[in-house]
Amino acid sequence: MSQSKYDLYKKQMGKVADLSNAGAVLSWDQQTYMPKNGAEFRGQQLATLQTMAHEQFVLEDLGSLLDSATNENLTEDQKVNLKITKKDFERKKKYPHEFVEEMANVTASGFSAWHEARTKNDFKIFQPVLEKIVELKRKEAKILGYAEHPYDALMEDYEPGLTVKKVDEVFTDVKNQLFPFLKTILAKPKSRVDFISRHYPKDKQWAFSEKMVRKMGYNFDGGRADFAPHPFCTTFGPGDVRITIRASEDYYNEMFFAAIHEAGHGLYEQGLPMREQYGLPMGSALSLAFHESQSRFWENNVARSRPYWVGNFPELQKEFPESLKDVSAEEFYKGVNLVEPSFIRVEADELTYHAHVYIRYLIEKALIEGSLEVSQVPQFWNDRYEEYLGIRPKSDAEGCLQDVHWSYGSFGYFPTYSLGSFYSAQIEAAMRKAIPSFDREVETGKFPILLKWLRENIHIHGRKYNSEELLTRISGSGLKFSYFMDYARKKYGEIYGI
Ligand code: CO
Repeated sequence: MSQSKYDLYKKQMGKVADLSNAGAVLSWDQQTYMPKNGAEFRGQQLATLQTMAHEQFVLEDLGSLLDSATNENLTEDQKVNLKITKKDFERKKKYPHEFVEEMANVTASGFSAWHEARTKNDFKIFQPVLEKIVELKRKEAKILGYAEHPYDALMEDYEPGLTVKKVDEVFTDVKNQLFPFLKTILAKPKSRVDFISRHYPKDKQWAFSEKMVRKMGYNFDGGRADFAPHPFCTTFGPGDVRITIRASEDYYNEMFFAAIHEAGHGLYEQGLPMREQYGLPMGSALSLAFHESQSRFWENNVARSRPYWVGNFPELQKEFPESLKDVSAEEFYKGVNLVEPSFIRVEADELTYHAHVYIRYLIEKALIEGSLEVSQVPQFWNDRYEEYLGIRPKSDAEGCLQDVHWSYGSFGYFPTYSLGSFYSAQIEAAMRKAIPSFDREVETGKFPILLKWLRENIHIHGRKYNSEELLTRISGSGLKFSYFMDYARKKYGEIYGI
């Protein structure tokens, strides 16, 4: 019996996914266990796999398969797969082969150049590679095409449909509403935080974090956690969704909240119908911004909430009787929600965080439209930190060299971090309507009830809807910044007595 065109399409997509997932394994290894001297050829291996995955995907027969499969008798989900793949295909097909290869080659040396520059605290080491990357990204925006702003073309990879116009609108709200609120908070007395930087043995930290990650519903039979310099979540296929963690023995927040965050990403991946829809849009995450909404939801809306620590602090205190003997649950809750301007984005509290993202967005937008030179980035960066957060980085290592993204050619990614938070506030509001006992469930650790809601309302849909559509299904409207502002005012207004 001959296979249907749809089956052939599915098989082809499976191959593309195999190549990408193999690349994910190599990249995970690079960031966890690879010895130093493996770096040189690992970059090349990753570039080869990336190029092969691209070649498999833009094969002309996939194009004709997509067209002929449309005429078959298909289910709704199958139609969605074809429609979205067709869109991806048209977009990917625009890339000339030489461009893909050039980008892969340039970014292959990007990571080590960035890493060296950061270690030696010298932007000049990274500058030439970054200049090449920016030049290529500008070329890429032209190749892809755009209606209004070249940066729109690049954001499409991370949040389909997102535009500079929309991001500017959201950040205008951030500037007009969140930043003044921050000022009010910063004028108030600080919460007590001395206990956060006491001694917490690494293995005990992980023992508690792992217990909480398990409680959320993260499945260790289909995942694992390893130490890496930067926490991340990666998927190798159905049944293998991994997270990485890091720990500082003198700073409690570092491991715990990153572990919850990455497990939130992991839960989304584990909840996708990936087995039945391997390599297909219906089995893939909607967008990076939505991905981030899932991690932020667990990290901030759940694990930084008062009910969470009312419920879990006694157990944490038992684990660390010395370091937490003179601390109450309420003090701990306030301590892990300290609002304070700082230099490092990944360590920022959930309010000042958006200033970090906004600054990177301004820089990326300016680099791509050509109104800023790469050589001007450090100065521009430091000036904006002073303007929005009132602090000035003393070095590029704690300034513009802190994030890895640019080194692998990722432009358009940063706005999704903020959008993720804003989505998660909107998601929480919707969830509270469906689950009025939300606070009690969090306090008593009934996380499966929350997870079930996320599974049914978000995870199961894969890429079926875009973010605006899915948010509308969930909450009755597309993104509204007011949800986040209401959440922030209620939570921090109470903590700081405003
Ligand atoms: Co994340």
